[in-house]
Amino acid sequence: MERRRLGKTDIEISPVALGCWPIAGMTSPGVTDESSLATLEACFELGINFLDTAYCYGAQGESERLIARALGSRRDEMVIATKGGLHWNADRKMVKDARPETLRRECEESLQRLGTDRVELLYLHAPDPEVAVAESAGELARLLAEGKTRSVGASNLDLAQLEEFASACPLSVFQPPYNMIQRDIETDIVPWCQRHQVSVVVYWPLMKGLLAGKLARDHQFADMDSRNKYSQFKGEEWEKNQQLVDELREIATGSGHTVAQLVVNWTIHQPGITAALCGAKRPEQIRDNAGAMGWQLSTEEQASIAAALARRGEPAEMKAV
Ligand SMILES: NC(=O)c1ccc[n+]([C@@H]2O[C@H](COP(=O)([O-])OP(=O)(O)OC[C@H]3O[C@@H](n4cnc5c(N)ncnc54)[C@H](OP(=O)(O)O)[C@@H]3O)[C@@H](O)[C@H]2O)c1
Repeated sequence: MERRRLGKTDIEISPVALGCWPIAGMTSPGVTDESSLATLEACFELGINFLDTAYCYGAQGESERLIARALGSRRDEMVIATKGGLHWNADRKMVKDARPETLRRECEESLQRLGTDRVELLYLHAPDPEVAVAESAGELARLLAEGKTRSVGASNLDLAQLEEFASACPLSVFQPPYNMIQRDIETDIVPWCQRHQVSVVVYWPLMKGLLAGKLARDHQFADMDSRNKYSQFKGEEWEKNQQLVDELREIATGSGHTVAQLVVNWTIHQPGITAALCGAKRPEQIRDNAGAMGWQLSTEEQASIAAALARRGEPAEMKAV
C-alpha cells in the first residue's frame, strides 16, 4: 500500500485521504450517520489511513464524533488530522477565532470528541484577522510540545503568513485548495513548501464534486448545498467545466479508470503534492476515489490532460457570487 511521509515527521499517510466535512451531514442533504460510518469503515479495506476533520465540521463536532465511533479500538490504525480556529456562531455563521486560549480549548474538545489523547496532526484552520499568525502558531507549538498533537499544520494562509507561521512553530503540512482548474499555489506556495520540507495536502481535489464527472449539465443543487454560491457552478464557467469533464471522461475511459480516479491520480502526482483530501458522502464514492492510488498516468495521457486544460482556458476565480 502506498504511503507518503508528512513533512519531516515519521507519520506515514495514504496519498488519498478521506475528507470528513461531508460525513457530518449538516450541509450534505441525505447523508445519514449510518452511511457516514460505512464510508469511514470502507477506508480500512481500501488502504486509506488518513482522515481529515475539524472542530467546526458538523454543527457540534459530529464529524469528529463519527470518526471516534467508526474507529473504536482501531484508533491507532488511522492518522487523524483536525483543525482549530473556526467555529459556528448562534446564527449558523462560520466565525474565525484563533486566539491562543481558543485554540487550546478547541484542541481539548476535539480530543474528547475523537476519544483520543493526541492527534497526529493539528492545523490552524484559517488566520484570524484579529490575531497575529505567529501568536496562533505559538500556541500550536506549545500543544505540540505537550504531546497533544504529533505534528502541526496550517490552512488557508498566503505566503507571507506561511513564513510568519513557520517562524513561530515547526510546520509539517500546509493545506490549500488545489485541483486541475485551481492551480494558483503552483507559482509560489508549492516551491516554498518543497524548499522547507512541508507537505502540501490539498482540499477540493474534485472541485466539490464537479471533477468527479457525475454532475449532469442540468443538475439542480439543493438550497443548502454550498455549491449554489460558487462561480464555477454557474453560467459560462459551468459550461466550460462540463466540456472539460467530457474530455477527461474520454481520457479516463481509454485508461480504464473513472473520471474521479483520473483527476485524483493527476493531483497526487503533481510536483510537491503529498495527498488529496477527497470528500465522500457514501462508501461507493470513497471506493471510487481510492482507485486513484497505485498507478501512474502515461506520458500520452498526461499530454492529453494538459491539452484539455489548455482548451478549457484560464478559469475565473473560485468565489462565492
Ligand atoms: N482547510 C479548509 O478550509 C478546507 C475547506 C474545504 C474542504 N476541506 C477538506 O477537504 C475535503 C474535501 O473537500 P470537499 O469535501 O468540500 O470537496 P471534494 O473532495 O472536492 O468533493 C467532494 C464531493 O464530491 C462528490 N464526490 C466525491 N467523490 C465522488 C465520486 N467518486 N463520484 C461522484 N461524486 C463524488 C460528493 O458530492 P456530491 O455527491 O453531492 O456531488 C462529495 O461530497 C473536505 O471534506 C475537508 O476535509 C478543507
